[in-house]
Amino acid sequence: MILETSKKINRFYGRRKGRRLSKSNLLALKEGSKYIINSTDLPLNTKIILKNLFEFKTKKVVLEIGFGGGENLLNSAKMNPDILYLGADPFLNTNAKLIKELLNNNITNVKIWPDDIRKIIDLFPKNTFSEIKILFPDPWPKLKHKDRRLIQNDFLISLYNILKLQGIITLGTDHFIMKSWILEIFQNHSGFQWIAEKASDWRIRPGDCFATKYEQKSIIENRKPNWFVFEKKYRI
Ligand SMILES: C[S@@+](CC[C@H](N)C(=O)[O-])C[C@H]1O[C@@H](n2cnc3c(N)ncnc32)[C@H](O)[C@@H]1O
Repeated sequence: MILETSKKINRFYGRRKGRRLSKSNLLALKEGSKYIINSTDLPLNTKIILKNLFEFKTKKVVLEIGFGGGENLLNSAKMNPDILYLGADPFLNTNAKLIKELLNNNITNVKIWPDDIRKIIDLFPKNTFSEIKILFPDPWPKLKHKDRRLIQNDFLISLYNILKLQGIITLGTDHFIMKSWILEIFQNHSGFQWIAEKASDWRIRPGDCFATKYEQKSIIENRKPNWFVFEKKYRI
């Protein structure tokens, strides 16, 4: 089913499938179907509430975009069983890896959108999420590829709409181009305040984020990850 949204969505340039899905990954996707939000559940052209998602009785819903291996999502869900986590990532192999862990650990507070978040981002009701996490988004460092970066002015407007007032967006990155790009895009939007008072605020991983594969990779390869936390305020 093709989802229609009012905005043009940039093409997704990352990987959806890498190596062929192994039998065990295919099985995990099947057995863990309860975790997956299927695009056929979404009515066309409607502002919808993702029914399955909001049947979970919680006041706090956290969105993680591009969860990759799912290290942060899994550990966050384990630590906070009363919070509902929605993870989005189009890469099916890592979806399957995460689902295996969710099944093994009997996790009930995670849902997965196994696709490009931009296809559904504007379908959420306003003020849905208390937090949004985007850890190590693909940097697309070449200038000619800047349109491929996930963080864009339009995308930020969508994030602003679905985030609660005083809700926070946490981003991590180890790439110097991405660091200045993030700050530039957030500065273009008058509805966010960068929560940083001292250097350790952007040098040390926030206490509510867990180490991910890409963070580990950056440390091994001697790059310094930085962390940016923005709070939603009234737009001036
Ligand atoms: C560099 S990896 C980082 C993965 C993980 N967050 C980590 O820190 O290890 C970026 C991830 O973002 C995902 N991604 C890229 N564009 C996306 C989009 N439009 N919607 C959802 N996920 C996306 C990719 O599939 C990939 O898994």
